[in-house]
Amino acid sequence: MLILGIESSCDETAASVVKDCREIRSSVISTQIEEHRKYGGVVPEIASRRHCENILGVVRQALDDADVTLDDLDAVAVTYAPGLIGALLVGVNFAKGLAMASGKPLIPVHHIAGHIATNYLTCPTLEPPYLCLVASGGHSHIIEVLSYTKFRVVGRTRDDAAGECFDKCARAMGFSYPGGVQIDHAAQNGDPSEFRLPHPNITGNEFDFSFSGLKTNVINLIHNSQQKNITLNYNNLSASVQKTIAEILTEKTIKAAESLGYIKIALAGGVSANTGVRATLSEACRKRGFEFYMPEKSLCGDNGAMIACQGSYNFLAGITADESLNAIATLSMEDI
Ligand code: KG4
Ligand code: ZN
Repeated sequence: MLILGIESSCDETAASVVKDCREIRSSVISTQIEEHRKYGGVVPEIASRRHCENILGVVRQALDDADVTLDDLDAVAVTYAPGLIGALLVGVNFAKGLAMASGKPLIPVHHIAGHIATNYLTCPTLEPPYLCLVASGGHSHIIEVLSYTKFRVVGRTRDDAAGECFDKCARAMGFSYPGGVQIDHAAQNGDPSEFRLPHPNITGNEFDFSFSGLKTNVINLIHNSQQKNITLNYNNLSASVQKTIAEILTEKTIKAAESLGYIKIALAGGVSANTGVRATLSEACRKRGFEFYMPEKSLCGDNGAMIACQGSYNFLAGITADESLNAIATLSMEDI
């Protein structure tokens, strides 16, 4: 089975051919980061326009690299939600045209389900059910992966996502967009004990996250020191931010696993590339004898292979779309 996956929900135009659900035959990613960096974040209209310009070349390259033609494919999978609406529409319309013109089935894929699927591409033995922490620029979710295509969200952020918190703290330190990876680098030369940052006090669902308090605390710390002409050690502050985010994510995930009876835990999303998050969650799982899975670093950010992989499982489950498929900016995983 050969599935083409197309991803355009944010600032990466990506396409990939995956064989038999888990074997990556090709993966092409055209990133727009350099262009958005000038503005300190993704500019939606620019993202849409770049997707429009790049998508044909990216898909063509993915087919060429896999040494296949459209005829060889079993289906075309595409991210239809959630994401920037103008960006999603480019991928959805392109995939729709490709599927209709070639007579291949069209498979809708939820972006978060795609991130979760990066674990199948990395770990050949992983099968549902398990609990997955998904932390990215737009989402922080604890998800019960009940089957390859059924999900239940047990915790979510009430305000900022973990990646957003990394990026906004990084911006306040003067790091360029996207700052998460720069905090990761700076933290490697830092001592997290200099700054004690707050963990949120959540009432209600104990598996929910909140990162806006941490973000505000860090931004205030930086602004106050600037007003007083005090130079902060940004390596140490980065180490503290990273440690605190890793602890918050880990603590909630372990609590959810223990309370719901999961002993298999996975990590996914752009923030799963973070050294501190990977180490803290993996150590917490090791201590309790839980199985722990995480994607290889090259699959943590947005890519087409994750859409092709999840698209393959959707296809096997009979999940297809017709020509009325539309892009959706906000869509819970439970509504797919
Ligand atoms: O999954 P992703 O590529 O896009 C979304 O679906 O949002 O996630 C991007 C997020 C950004 O906030 C970025 O700063 C963060 O993932 N990120 C990191 C690292 N690499 C990417 N955050 C912390 N440490 C990293 N190494
Ligand atoms: Zn993503």
